Amino acid sequence: MKTIRLNLKTRSYPIFIEEGLIVKTGCLLKNLMIGKDAVVITNNNLRKRFGAKVKNSLEKHGFTSKFYVVPDSEKAKSIQYCLSLINKISKYDKKKQVFLIALGGGVIGDLTGFVASIYKRGIHYIQIPTTLLAQVDSSIGGKTAIDLKVAKNLVGAFHQPRAVIVDPGLLKSLPKRQLKSGLGEVIKYAIIKDRSLFSFLKNNRKKIFSLDKKAIELIERKCIYIKAKVVENDEFEKKGIRTILNFGHTIGHALESACEYDKYNHGEAISIGMICAADIACNLKIFNEKDLDKIIDLIKLYNLPGRIKGVTLNKIMDSLVRDKKFIQAKNRFVLPKAIGKVIVKKNIPENIIRGTILKYS
Ligand SMILES: NC(=O)c1ccc[n+]([C@@H]2O[C@H](COP(=O)([O-])OP(=O)(O)OC[C@H]3O[C@@H](n4cnc5c(N)ncnc54)[C@H](O)[C@@H]3O)[C@@H](O)[C@H]2O)c1
Ligand SMILES: [Zn+2]
Repeated sequence: MKTIRLNLKTRSYPIFIEEGLIVKTGCLLKNLMIGKDAVVITNNNLRKRFGAKVKNSLEKHGFTSKFYVVPDSEKAKSIQYCLSLINKISKYDKKKQVFLIALGGGVIGDLTGFVASIYKRGIHYIQIPTTLLAQVDSSIGGKTAIDLKVAKNLVGAFHQPRAVIVDPGLLKSLPKRQLKSGLGEVIKYAIIKDRSLFSFLKNNRKKIFSLDKKAIELIERKCIYIKAKVVENDEFEKKGIRTILNFGHTIGHALESACEYDKYNHGEAISIGMICAADIACNLKIFNEKDLDKIIDLIKLYNLPGRIKGVTLNKIMDSLVRDKKFIQAKNRFVLPKAIGKVIVKKNIPENIIRGTILKYS
């Protein structure tokens, strides 16, 4: 088993990576001193698929388990479900040592982490991510949140999990579109920090799409390592280091929001966002056209979109200025300098942003 440790002094934790780990959940948690009574938050679909494996393993190692399900969609990341969970947990929590387990994708991970951050001013929680996006990105780093009507992820907290259990075997049942969405984030990691990952992705499409054990474990290890190191150096996103994880996300988020989170999923939207950021970097003469073409080719290789469809430039621009990344009305972009290296640039002229969006529409 590969273990990557995320070092944050008293908030440090292990990220365990290996196919088949889900049946070892209880064993992996038994020495962590996080409590005895696990409350597992999941949805019906995932409970049917993986619930018994988690439950049996927990009980085998002396834990009790209680499952609460939430709807299978972004709707679960709401104040309503958050409060309903807190009420249920507080009623259940009598003479117990409760900790939470998020068994699901980014939606369940964000919701569970947020509940864990506010219940009793913070209790322990564990991430068992079940989508590729959650395994390489959202389950690691302690960003938790729920959505408000006006915007996604507006209410949240930093609250690190006590362990992350990454079992790539769980991806076998993941719908192909969700797998591709996660691959959008994997491509992001390659462009921001790892040129060799970029080449690996270019040369191993078939193995990755068929979930070849070695290939998936390799890309997961590389992405998780990058995320862990970035978070270690800038846990609360105060030093501008964690910002690089937002490569492709400025225009990507604007696109998701302009389409009301319907047309593009996250990985699809950031794929277009990464191409636009790379094109802006070419316009500013900090990146070369040949490497831009390589990025476009890799995104196409993984059947991710490279063009914007069904939404106007003005709608995207409107969403862009409302984004958290527009600090005090000034824009901030993560731009590539080379494949494997990015920089943060502020105040990109609006005509350049508009020109790029039009070019890829
Ligand atoms: N906290 C962070 O740092 C961070 C980072 C990126 C994204 N996010 C958040 O993550 C969320 C998106 O997460 P996501 O892309 O994982 O989507 P998701 O959690 O909605 O899961 C996608 C779908 O796949 C299903 N599914 C999950 N695992 C499965 C499996 N193994 N087999 C079959 N079906 C499975 C789910 O039930 C769901 O229908 C968004 O809310 C986003 O804001 C958070
Ligand atoms: Zn993302």
